[in-house]
Formats: sequence, structure tokens, C-alpha cells
Amino acid sequence: MKRFLFAFSVLTGLLLGAAVQARSLDEIKASGTIIVATEGAYPPFNFFQGSKLTGFEVELAEAMVKKMGLKIEWKALAFDALLAGLRQDRWDMVMASFGVTDARSKAVMFTNPYYCSGGLIVSKDATIKDAASLVGKTVAVQTGSTYMENVRKLVGVKEVKNFPQDTDARSALVAGRVDAWVSDRFVVKTATETNPGLGLKVGDYLFVERIAAAIKKGNAPLAAAVDKALAEVLADGTYKAISEKFIKEDIRCKS
Ligand code: ARG
Repeated sequence: MKRFLFAFSVLTGLLLGAAVQARSLDEIKASGTIIVATEGAYPPFNFFQGSKLTGFEVELAEAMVKKMGLKIEWKALAFDALLAGLRQDRWDMVMASFGVTDARSKAVMFTNPYYCSGGLIVSKDATIKDAASLVGKTVAVQTGSTYMENVRKLVGVKEVKNFPQDTDARSALVAGRVDAWVSDRFVVKTATETNPGLGLKVGDYLFVERIAAAIKKGNAPLAAAVDKALAEVLADGTYKAISEKFIKEDIRCKS
């Protein structure tokens, strides 16, 4: 039975491998549709409003892809499955607020950044506001995020608690189960503005990062097409309008 199951999984693996190949820009163009994966649980960037996927990077992707003369087929999946699925050719691009890091750049290719941000320290205790004040503390972060990576590098943190979704990391802080939460500056801005009653105190940046779309390594023509579309929406006011709609300011990289 075991041997049968093994043979079966090898065979389906081969069949799947044959069916889903990395698509070149020409193949994507010929199909008319680009498959873009995101998470759908990271407001204001990608989230569900009822059954509708929306957010800053969802509308931005739609505007860019329109410039490319294509349509989008969205996939919404767990954050830490997104880059792996790209490498397995399950979609053409990932837009889920991924910061450009050296480690990720070894596995995937990044386009030009579409916003610049950073990880902020958030607490209910105003004295917990910088890296030094996290010594001996418990910190909530999203699994697989740059927040997790950067908090893990700190010396003296009592415990790094990982949550599959960033909103769960925030809930842990709100419920008093951790001392701090590290998340994106604009996620924090949205959370504190929409829920002023939570009593969250915003501290310092732990690090800054540039956020870009990820595509399969080697797919340079696709990266060039996405970069061109991004430059167009940045220049014609589309980017600014979408950014102000979701974040009330223009979050493009200034340098
Ligand atoms: N910017 C952080 C990173 O690069 C977090 C991204 C989280 N994205 C999401 N869709 N939950 O890891």
C-alpha cells in the first residue's frame, strides 16, 4: 500500500509538473490573463470585503495589469505559501507586501518597489517602544514575515510568537497575551485609525524595507513589463489616487 501511494504521488507530481510550467510574458499575453497570488488578510493592502478581494495592492495590480493589456485571475492563499507556489509555477506573480530581502532574492525575482515602509513596534505600554525595551518581552509577529526575521535577530527577547496571519498577531496584543506586536507602518496606521479604542501605542521603526512584486527567477521580460506599467501608473495619477483611497497618503518610494 505504501509503495503504491508513493508511486501514485510521484506520478501525480510528474503530471502536475508537466501541466504547470512557468509562463513567459508571451504565453501570459497570449492567454490574456496573468495569475496573481496574494493573501487577502492584510488590510489596507490586500483583504476581503465580504467576498470581494480589495486593498491598495489589489487595485494597484489591477491598474498595472490593465496597462499591460491583460486581466487578472486572483488567487488568495496563506502568506507563507505564496513564494513557494511561485517557484512551483502555480501563479505568475505575487503581490502580498513582500519586502525585498537578500534571502528572498535568492529564491525569486523582485520588480521595482511599489511602496516603501518599515516594521514598527506597537504595544499597549508606552515604555515598550524600541529594540532595547523588547528585552525580556514577548513579541507577536506574522509567520514568515520580515517582522519575524528582524525580531528574531534581537538579543534578549523572551519569546517570539508566530501567527499565520498578521491580524492574529495584532489580536494577541489587543488581548494582552503578548507585550508587543511588530508590523507594517501603514497596517498599524490603518489599525489604530479604524480602532482608536484599542489603546495601541506606536513606537519606533525596527527596520525599513522596500515592497515589491515577486515573479519567478529568470522571468526578466515579465519584470520589465511590470516595471513599465508601474512607472506609468506612478506618472499618470492612478497610483496616487489608489494610495490616497486606502492609506490617505501617497506611499511611493521617495528614493
Ligand atoms: N512586509 C512584510 C514582509 O515582507 C510582511 C508582509 C505581509 N504580507 C501579507 N500579505 N500578510 O514579510
